[in-house]
Amino acid sequence: MGTAAHIVAIPGGGAENVPNVELCTSLYRVFGGRVAPAGPRPGLTPRLQRVKISVFGCGYLGAVHAACMTRLGHDVLGVDVIEDQVAALSRGEAPFFEPGLPELLVEGLDTGRLAFTSDAGLAADATVHFICVGTPQKPGENAADLRYVRSAINTLLPMLKPGDVVVGKSTVPVGTAESLRELIHGAQPEAELIWNPEFLREGFAVHDTLHPDRLVYGLAPTDAGRRAAARLDEVYATALGQGTPKVEADLATAQLVKVAANSFLATKISFINAMAELCEATGADVTLLADAIGHDARIGRKFLNAGVGFGGGCLPKDIRAFMARAGELGVDQALSFLSEVDAINMRRRVRMVDLAREVCGGSIVGRQIAVLGAAFKPDSDDVRDSPALSVAAQMQLQGARVTVTDPQAIDNARKKWPELSFAPTAAEAVQGAEAVLLLTEWPEYVVLDPVELRQNVTAPRIIDGRNCLDPVAWRAAGWTYRALGRP
Ligand code: UGA
Repeated sequence: MGTAAHIVAIPGGGAENVPNVELCTSLYRVFGGRVAPAGPRPGLTPRLQRVKISVFGCGYLGAVHAACMTRLGHDVLGVDVIEDQVAALSRGEAPFFEPGLPELLVEGLDTGRLAFTSDAGLAADATVHFICVGTPQKPGENAADLRYVRSAINTLLPMLKPGDVVVGKSTVPVGTAESLRELIHGAQPEAELIWNPEFLREGFAVHDTLHPDRLVYGLAPTDAGRRAAARLDEVYATALGQGTPKVEADLATAQLVKVAANSFLATKISFINAMAELCEATGADVTLLADAIGHDARIGRKFLNAGVGFGGGCLPKDIRAFMARAGELGVDQALSFLSEVDAINMRRRVRMVDLAREVCGGSIVGRQIAVLGAAFKPDSDDVRDSPALSVAAQMQLQGARVTVTDPQAIDNARKKWPELSFAPTAAEAVQGAEAVLLLTEWPEYVVLDPVELRQNVTAPRIIDGRNCLDPVAWRAAGWTYRALGRP
């Protein structure tokens, strides 16, 4: 259900003329059709002003944003070109693992104020249009691939009405928003663009969208810009009413805020991982070092967890795209430190494989190795640039027999690396293992019982790639315990 073919028929026909009556009824409710809108459920935050919203791109960012905007009381239409994704979302199923999202989707669909479609033309009734499409790294280059942003804008241009606001949330190279604004004005001089970067973390995406720690608006210093900002204030009325800080800036600053924030986070992680290299060379303990420097409020303990490094669909590609953009702007020196941040991060993966070789007595060829974790971090099934999967694949390529397990990411991991073996649980993955590598700190792995797990392995050797296990307990249970940055 919920395919484009069902939805396309709506504007001209009636809900009774198309097969998917339930979904169409929902779309009628969303955009002021003949069905009376369902009121907010008891307990929902009262909305100050209901806004008709379209969300272009329903991936990790857009699907969450659409569902959350409905929770805030707005009428929301999510638009995506991937029909399977639209169908899943229309059934209240999240196409990826994100805690809290399925419940929010069902709640939103039930109110009749949330719908998903692959017929972009239905977004014409919306007055605020969010651009939430992906900006992946271009293959073989550092730069971001903007084809989805361009495609979304080109789809939107003919629909824009006077007073409409286009809100950019995708992470883009600075300067993109300015050119999009020109395109928008070319098509509809009385529509306006705001750049409103998103700071949600996967795994906490619902919380971060409903309770952002700040809102950033990038806008032109014109009356139209200020009117557009006032419209966006209506969308975010709940968060603003709760005192969420808002920073209004020019377009360039708003675009930079996002990549600057991710670059800072990446730098913080690579800083502690560089310290881990020093600790390895001196017999020091990076976890104690992080605790000690983290007590300084100016430094802070967050994002100082040393280990196998950062991955995912954001930090790695964002720092690379930022460097590429700096090069285009002639200020590449300003960001040359980010290539070191990237290099430190990638070295951790190599070091992890070396450590596996070391504990296996100098060679991993033919060795049975268990990898706990495939996702780039816990509470996610995302394996994009996942350090865990990258290490697993490297060991396999170097001749080891690798079995990977993960509570959520096995399907995605298998699609990417079908050569690896997969097991549904940690207990099964470690059967006959000569080394166990913990590479994603899922809570169930952190609390594994070393005594029990020992029964299943051939050789009790554990490498803690996230510094999340208690070395004393594991050593007491007879394991050889090794970790990155610890003696
Ligand atoms: C990141 C940012 O944290 C978000 O603020 C931002 O909105 C998002 O990118 C984005 O650009 O969309 P996310 O990719 O979900 O969010 O993941 P993080 O929680 O930042 O973790 C990134 C990586 O760093 C993970 O692989 C994690 O394991 C690693 N990490 C994190 C460490 O190795 N050490 C730490 O101390 C913290």
